[in-house]
Amino acid sequence: MHKLLDRIGRWLAFRMEAEKAHGLAIAGLKTGQLGPRQIVQDTRLSVDLAGLKFPNPVGVAAGFDKNAEVYEPLLKLGFGFSEVGTLTPRAQAGNPQPRVFRLPLDHGVINRLGFNNDGHGPAVDRLRLAPPTGIVGVNIGANKDSEDRIADYVAGIEKFADLAAYFTVNISSPNTPGLRDLQTREKLAELLDRVAEAMQRQQRPVPVFLKIAPDVTEADLDEICDEVLAKAIDGMIISNTTLSRANLARDINEAGGLSGRPLFERSTIMLAKVRQRVGPDLALVGVGGVENAATALSKIRAGADLVQLYTGMIYQGPHIAQEICAGLTRELDAGEAASIGDLRDSQLDEWAARPAPA
Ligand code: FNR
Repeated sequence: MHKLLDRIGRWLAFRMEAEKAHGLAIAGLKTGQLGPRQIVQDTRLSVDLAGLKFPNPVGVAAGFDKNAEVYEPLLKLGFGFSEVGTLTPRAQAGNPQPRVFRLPLDHGVINRLGFNNDGHGPAVDRLRLAPPTGIVGVNIGANKDSEDRIADYVAGIEKFADLAAYFTVNISSPNTPGLRDLQTREKLAELLDRVAEAMQRQQRPVPVFLKIAPDVTEADLDEICDEVLAKAIDGMIISNTTLSRANLARDINEAGGLSGRPLFERSTIMLAKVRQRVGPDLALVGVGGVENAATALSKIRAGADLVQLYTGMIYQGPHIAQEICAGLTRELDAGEAASIGDLRDSQLDEWAARPAPA
C-alpha cells in the first residue's frame, strides 16, 4: 500500500514544476505525511567517524533542507544523518525561476538555484528550539555580493558552533560566480586557515569537512588534498554537481550543476582519486548518483566512509534510505564482512584507475 501511495505521490510531483514539487515535499515532511515505515536498525551499518557515531552510512546531501526545516522528519525516515544548508550569513533570493530542471530519461537534475536561503538567523533559531535527535551537519557558504567571502564562512562557524554536529565548507557550487576560485591553492590555504582559527576559538571542537567539485583537474586535486592534509580539516565531501553534460540521453540546454545518475561515475572516480591521495585516516563522504544499495556500496568500495544523496530521493521516493540500508544488510548477510566499514576501499584501485568521462 505504501509503495502504491509513494508511486502516486511521485506521479503527481513529476507533473509539477520541479521547485514546486520540492516545496510540497518539504510541506509533507513537516506535517508527517511522508512518515516512517519500518526502520532498519543494524549495528553492522553503524560508522564511527570524526568523533561521531553514525547509525548508518546513508545521509541527506545539502540543498534538500536548505533552511533547517525538516532535519528531524528526514532522520525519522531512516537516514543516518542529514545536512542543512547551504546557509549564507544574509538571506538571499538566488537566481530567477525556473532554475531546477528534471532529466527523467537520465534520472538527473540540473539546478542553478544560486544559494537561495533564509540566512543564518532562522536556521540557528530552529536548531536551537528543536535540537536534533540525530546527526545534523551544517553546510556553510558565502553571499553572492559578499566583499569578504572567507569572512562569511568564519561567520558560519561562529553562528553554528554549538549547534552543528559537523560543518561542511562548501566551495564547490557552480551557481555563485567565482565561488569555485576558492579551490585554488592560495585561496584555499587562506580559507582553511581562517576556518581552523575560528574553530579553535570555540568551546567545543566540531569536525569540519570540505566539499569539492567533481570537475577539478588531477593537478588541482593534488593541491587540494595537500592543503586539506596540512590543515586542521577532518574530511572531504566528494562531490558537488558537475558542469559536464557527458553521456546524457537527451541534450538539454540549461545552465547549472548536473546531479543524479549522470554524475555517479565521475564523482566515484574522483572519490577514489582523493582516497588514494589522502590515505586511510581522513573521513570521506561519497556523493553523486547514489540511488540504491548497489551505488551506495560502489562508493564505499571506492573509498567512502559515508554516502549522501539528493537526486535519488526525487526518483526513488522518501523511503530510499531504508531501502538502501536493507540492501546493505543483505550484502553483509551474504558475505564475509562483519561491518559495512570493512568493505571500504575494496575496489579503490579499480575506481581510481578509470578515466573520468569527458
Ligand atoms: C544541490 N546540491 C547542493 N550542495 C551544496 O553543497 N549546497 C547546496 O545548497 C546544494 N543545493 C542543491 C540543490 C539541488 C536542487 C540539487 C539537486 C543539489 C548538491 C548536492 O548536495 C549533491 O552534492 C549533488 O546533488 C550530488 O548528489 P546527488 O543529487 O546526485 O545525490
